Amino acid sequence: MIIGSISENLNIEKRVAITPEIIKKYKSLGLGVNLIKDYAKHLGISDQEYEAEGASIFQSNEEVIANSNAILQMNIPNDDDLLKLKKDQILIGVLNPYLNEKKLKEIKLKNVNCFSLELLPRITRAQSMDILSSQANLAGYKAVIDSFAYFQKAIPMMMTAAGTISAAKVLVVGAGVAGLQAIATAKRMGAIVFATDVRLASKEQVESLGGKFLTVEGAENLETDGGYAKETSEEFKIKQENLIKETLKKIDIVVCTALIPGKKAPIIIKKDMIEVMPTGSVIYDLAASQGGNSELTKVDEIVEAKGVKIMGKKNILNKLPISASNLYAKNMYNFVSNLFDKEKKSFAINSDDEIIEKTKVK
Ligand code: NAI
Repeated sequence: MIIGSISENLNIEKRVAITPEIIKKYKSLGLGVNLIKDYAKHLGISDQEYEAEGASIFQSNEEVIANSNAILQMNIPNDDDLLKLKKDQILIGVLNPYLNEKKLKEIKLKNVNCFSLELLPRITRAQSMDILSSQANLAGYKAVIDSFAYFQKAIPMMMTAAGTISAAKVLVVGAGVAGLQAIATAKRMGAIVFATDVRLASKEQVESLGGKFLTVEGAENLETDGGYAKETSEEFKIKQENLIKETLKKIDIVVCTALIPGKKAPIIIKKDMIEVMPTGSVIYDLAASQGGNSELTKVDEIVEAKGVKIMGKKNILNKLPISASNLYAKNMYNFVSNLFDKEKKSFAINSDDEIIEKTKVK
């Protein structure tokens, strides 16, 4: 059995699904590895590095697909490549089945089995495959680093002979995986950190990282059984707005990470709230590509409003593609290893396995 990976669309994606270091793990499972030439050249990784670990390099995507049993990608391949997949082949990636429903249905009719990793259940056994966590963690870190780079003051408190510089104040909206890493990163750099979330369980986590949790008074715990956030009521929204607006008067940097699965991101930082922020403040909106948590966010643009910079990238992980690929490649390996029957030396699509069943594109 052979796995393969073809080129991503480099205009939108710099991450790759297979790193040189992961190849020996595939080899020890008994799997061969096929790659398109110059697979990770843009990351400074040569074909020779992959070959040294035992990968075979092909001249075209078509050849990789024709000679592999499973294709492992970051994103869904382009239409041409997708249509080259044939019966009993497997495609694994972040396939976005809601957006790509028509295309995926078409290849499913050819009996291609597709697995979309963002559908992984968040159960203990799937933690090592959890691409949402591994990538969100890096995104939370990078959002802080980038917003600090745009902030024109020092972050930590400094007492010097010339006077004292006060520590920057950061507000993290949404304390899930990305938010908690944002809090930890901002704290490590000396900022004073505030955070808010609709899940009350996150209060303890924020506090354990040294953050101050802003609790919306009288709020019920808006957490689903799966650990995600529920949509908030109008009453909650007003209370949260008042609390955040008051806090924003003293905040230098806001990192937004609030999401509700399958829905547009909630608008939490409204225009009139931005207006009360000190001049020179920065808002980094990690929810930008899902519509944004700030009313003024524009994807891949830096918007200035009353001296406040608001920014958000479509894919912030393109700014640390090597770390992101390393973690993604490990998540992918763990998923493939679970899908591979080590005794029969073949892929086994066992629908009794919750991980396989939930990720399979129906
Ligand atoms: P996410 O990316 O869907 O949302 C980010 C955060 O935004 C969440 O904490 C959510 O509660 C918050 N949020 C949503 N609406 C909000 C609003 N209106 N105001 C303020 N905050 C709002 O969630 P993420 O980060 O992927 O994970 C959320 C949960 O999943 C957590 O409970 C986490 O512990 C759990 N989890 C469990 C894993 C497991 O394997 N057992 C792995 C990773 C996460």
